[in-house]
Amino acid sequence: MKTRVLMVCLGNICRSPLAEGILKSKVDPNKVSIDSAGTGSWHVDHLPDPRSISVGKRYGVDITGQRGRQFEPADFDRFDHIYVMDTSNYDDVIAQARNEEDKNKVQLILDEIFPGEKVDVPDPYHGGEHGFENVFQMLDEACEIIASKLNKE
Ligand code: 4NP
Repeated sequence: MKTRVLMVCLGNICRSPLAEGILKSKVDPNKVSIDSAGTGSWHVDHLPDPRSISVGKRYGVDITGQRGRQFEPADFDRFDHIYVMDTSNYDDVIAQARNEEDKNKVQLILDEIFPGEKVDVPDPYHGGEHGFENVFQMLDEACEIIASKLNKE
């Protein structure tokens, strides 16, 4: 069976669409399926932020097929691993967990690089282009580690 991975941020237009696209570029699509969602509802059905599209394009990751959607408790049933971008996303997702099994699926994505240090992927929405480059590099490093684990499963 495929391993199912969900990337979650606040708006589902800046960070989690990049995380989805980057991880997709590193894994076997026959073995792993990946989606993303936001804890908020403002950007449901929207394209990713143009600045995320642009940094992805620069590194060969096309995220223009994605549209925003909101996280819902049923996602705990649909996914094996739920990676959140920051501690605020973590709290918002954990608050919707129905049991311990749900909670155990949720992990800060940068825990893959800095285990236990609670490092956030900073929200780049109100900043400039450099923030998006920084986000891309952090996510690329984390997704490389995730992909190497998933490709072994
Ligand atoms: P994201 O960034 O969580 O990385 O998609 C944000 C995008 C939009 C908003 C907040 C964060 N917003 O408040 O609309």
